[in-house]
Amino acid sequence: MHYFTIKDNRLWAEEVLVEDIVKEYGTPIYIYSARTLKRHYHAFDSAFYAIPHIICFSVKCNSNIHVLKTLKEEGAGADIVSGGELYRALRAEIDPQKIVFSGVGKQEHEIKEGLFADILMFNVESLDELMKINEIALSLNKKARISFRINPDVDPKTHPYISTGLKENKFGIDINDAIYAYKSAKELKGVEPIGIDCHIGSQLTEITPFLDALEKLKILYSELKEIGINIKYLDLGGGLGIQYKEEEPPHPKEFGEALSKSLTGYPLTLILEPGRVIAGNAGVLVTKVIYTKETENKNFLIVDAGMNDLIRPALYGSYHRISEVTPKGRPPKKYDVVGPICESGDFLAKDRELPEIHAGELLCVFSAGAYGFVMSSQYNSRPRAAEVMVSGDSFYLIRERETYRDLTYLEEKINF
Ligand code: LLP
Repeated sequence: MHYFTIKDNRLWAEEVLVEDIVKEYGTPIYIYSARTLKRHYHAFDSAFYAIPHIICFSVKCNSNIHVLKTLKEEGAGADIVSGGELYRALRAEIDPQKIVFSGVGKQEHEIKEGLFADILMFNVESLDELMKINEIALSLNKKARISFRINPDVDPKTHPYISTGLKENKFGIDINDAIYAYKSAKELKGVEPIGIDCHIGSQLTEITPFLDALEKLKILYSELKEIGINIKYLDLGGGLGIQYKEEEPPHPKEFGEALSKSLTGYPLTLILEPGRVIAGNAGVLVTKVIYTKETENKNFLIVDAGMNDLIRPALYGSYHRISEVTPKGRPPKKYDVVGPICESGDFLAKDRELPEIHAGELLCVFSAGAYGFVMSSQYNSRPRAAEVMVSGDSFYLIRERETYRDLTYLEEKINF
């Protein structure tokens, strides 16, 4: 459920007319709904009421510090994968004791930053990384709390680019090598193994793969207990899917109930790293049609948002629902909605049936709150879009539109 709705032939974001936001800040523009973010956070969080848990919002999916702050105020922690994300999480005043640091390639300076911030734990992805964290912690006279990211070899049945828990993926430690990894960690003075972690993929629309992974982690938990390694946290990662088109992902309530049931009786705190399920449908991208163009085979809507603004359709062939911002009730027509970038892959939708649209009109691209702005670039020297937060009947800029100066700023520091 989100708060972007058509009422009286106008698109509203909560109690704000989307046209009014565009009048003030132009297009292309990302618009987020604070009420939706909060609603999604609470739906997820309350689903786990029966067991101890921490919800660490996955910063990679939407790292705007105002989005992070909104969620932090509702109680969220953060799942981070870089020093930059740690910086953002701390700027948003997220409690370091609710921050977990994942990622296959943590650099020395990033490990130090995590240790100085005293984050809850590092999700370690290789023995090499374990040694590095130990060495750095010892040099700083600290002890790093760690978990190992276990690759449980479970098929998440999602797009291959976003499936991460299969044997062939680069992520985590093979479950068969896990005991050895924990034993090695126990010998080291600079680390303390406190958790087991896994993340099997993103945009999952079934609960079974999560439960399968959880079963494997529970067995590992018991085996570790037998050899005197007491685990306190079980981190099951993120990955719960959302509806873009006709998917029917489980409701967080169903997800929470199933996991809580499976963990009853285990003295563990469950950590979850949801991203998309919180932010995905809490954001839209609004774009203006610059030209329409009809060829023998196709009708094109050429819009002012390109693959540099929203890369998901080009990269994964993802479907994003598109609607008019001010529905005119014209008869339907089939369109390719394309951006201004010089690549054939620059499209937001292909063969999409929409009401007839004219140049100058606004379109809304839905489900753009996760992996939208964060994956945008300046390709073709296009300044990045602005971001706006709506809350009730007010809206405010949370990231200014970039300018031409932002394109060359770092280059002009150097004489040429
Ligand atoms: N935790 C870890 C370790 C992850 O790698 C991810 C996502 C998450 C949590 C959050 O997953 P979520 O709840 O959002 O599914 N760019 C792709 C998605 C990449 C996901 C990467 N990892 C897309 O646009 O679909």
